[in-house]
Amino acid sequence: MANTLFTPYRLSGLELNNRIVMAPMTRSRAIGNIPNETMAEFYAQRAAAGLLITEGTSPSPNGLGYARIPGIFSDEQVAGWKKVTDAVHEKGGKIVVQLMHTGRVAHADNLPAGATVLGPSAVKLENTKMWVDAKGVLELPAAKEMSVEDILLTIDEYVQAARNAIRAGFDGIELHGANGYLIKQFLNPHSNRRTDQYGGSIENRSRFLLEVVSAVINAIGKDKVGIRLSPFGTYNETHAYPETEATYLYLAEALKKLDIAYLHITDQSVKGEPNELTKAIRKIFTNTVILSGGYSAVKAEEALSQGYGDLVSFGVPFIANPDLVDRFKSKLPLNQPKFDLFYTAGKEGYTDYPVFEDVPVFA
Ligand SMILES: Cc1cc2nc3c(=O)[nH]c(=O)nc-3n(C[C@H](O)[C@H](O)[C@H](O)COP(=O)(O)O)c2cc1C
Repeated sequence: MANTLFTPYRLSGLELNNRIVMAPMTRSRAIGNIPNETMAEFYAQRAAAGLLITEGTSPSPNGLGYARIPGIFSDEQVAGWKKVTDAVHEKGGKIVVQLMHTGRVAHADNLPAGATVLGPSAVKLENTKMWVDAKGVLELPAAKEMSVEDILLTIDEYVQAARNAIRAGFDGIELHGANGYLIKQFLNPHSNRRTDQYGGSIENRSRFLLEVVSAVINAIGKDKVGIRLSPFGTYNETHAYPETEATYLYLAEALKKLDIAYLHITDQSVKGEPNELTKAIRKIFTNTVILSGGYSAVKAEEALSQGYGDLVSFGVPFIANPDLVDRFKSKLPLNQPKFDLFYTAGKEGYTDYPVFEDVPVFA
């Protein structure tokens, strides 16, 4: 019988109950950048997904660009995440942490004392502003261009974060190489103007990503490492460029050689169907592919049956529907998301979405 969203899947030694993945989503509930009980409740509510990917989580004080996002570099943060992974595992779920270094997409006032806004080059974001608690929406000054020493220190931070993730009970890590954050800032020639070995050619722009991947593999093993990429995504001013296809085909080859667990492919233009580049990447990268972006259950089933991917991640539908897996299975209607509560502190619009209950029918 053909595989469906509800067929179990073996992801590099991890047994997933189904092929439905919760996409990583920043929710800004980590007061003081430390995961808490409310976050544990949020993830546990959604543990029926085959795999949960956490919100973007910083490996470094320098990567905490947004207000109230979590980190995974201190013991307190590891202890906070342990509550989350325990709550998910108790319900039979699997969970990986997304390591997101915001790089230049950061306001210094969101960072802890002593931290620095870093980027591959000092290129200012022209049209992107950022919320800072108690201050409002502010312009972003140019980041400090990273020295080679900064780069090596940052790679070490990813390594330590990957080790911390295992200590915190995670089933693995997803490197955030998408959506205009630090790894993508290196890939994109608009945000990366370097003339050293980390800039210029495809190989050079890919170097930071591949060095991070190799370093975390050495630390925790290739079976526990996945990465998210957004080839055509221009979010956070990573503008389109002619070598996009060539860059990502090169990466697909290199990541296949490194034999990591999965590639998670998305961008803001994907609307429930893989594009030609995703299909080409799939042919090269023959380990697990997670499709993402604008998928409905029907579109996801179509993509799986065509063999375009192995798993499909859902973002916004999971925000509003803690019981999304059951709703998909029984073809039930979905709750509507409350957009204005996506990034607010507290439980409202976070852990208070109702599960589906049959409306009693009275004669
Ligand atoms: C509130 C919100 C926060 C998000 N935060 C992240 C994030 O931290 N990391 C990431 O890779 N993508 C993030 N995304 C993108 C989602 O993972 C996903 O790619 C996007 O919502 C499209 O999928 P969907 O149509 O199923 O929602 C976020 C999306 C939303 C709506």
